[in-house]
Amino acid sequence: MKDSSKEVFVAPSLLSADFSRLNEEIKEVEDLGVKYLHFDVMDGHFVDNISFGIPVLKSIAHTHHMINDVHIMISEPKKYVKAFSDAGADILTFHYEACSEDEVNEIIDLIHNEGIKAGLAIKPGTDVEKIIPYLSSLDLLLVMSVEPGFGGQEFILNSLSKIKKLDEYRAENNLKYLIEVDGGINRETAKECRDAGVDILVAGNYIFKNNKKSAIEALLG
Ligand code: DX5
Ligand code: ZN
Repeated sequence: MKDSSKEVFVAPSLLSADFSRLNEEIKEVEDLGVKYLHFDVMDGHFVDNISFGIPVLKSIAHTHHMINDVHIMISEPKKYVKAFSDAGADILTFHYEACSEDEVNEIIDLIHNEGIKAGLAIKPGTDVEKIIPYLSSLDLLLVMSVEPGFGGQEFILNSLSKIKKLDEYRAENNLKYLIEVDGGINRETAKECRDAGVDILVAGNYIFKNNKKSAIEALLG
């Protein structure tokens, strides 16, 4: 249920930024008071696209003061936890579908052992029920509202019921994980996600392909 006192944050997804002026793009969103910077890593195997990885994260992680919200859409995430942590990830979010059930807790522990926050992402086709067992140890749950792999896709409506369920479960069980939604977020879908109980709105195209200031204001309502 919507809690009007709760603050909602925006996390611009760098995937949609102009990489020929990456530093300026980062500075522009930081100067607008943005708290999280969303960093989409794609390996061309878990998803049918290749974006950027550890050297790019390393080069930009400490050029700003936003929280480096790193979303790894990769196979074998366990192998790369330390590398992403060392490169500057503050939150490292891996995909439930990229590992076996018994690896999920192991990877969460590995991330926490690096001293950073652990996030788990679920694709549109994955039920919230599947990840209930992990919620008590997670810092963030990422609801993918598009199929991972590309920016600029349409918002998938069933994401709203997932956010609502996660928000209710969190309240009923007095848990602290943040709920993040990612994909197809614009003025309209952001409002629906805020009303469903989301904490962080990831947006790529809507921010980087429009006036950043008005886009961010529109997302926060
Ligand atoms: C997709 C990425 C998203 C994407 C969001 O796999 O995880 O973060 O970049 O882009 P928009 O906001 O344009 O849908
Ligand atoms: Zn993402």
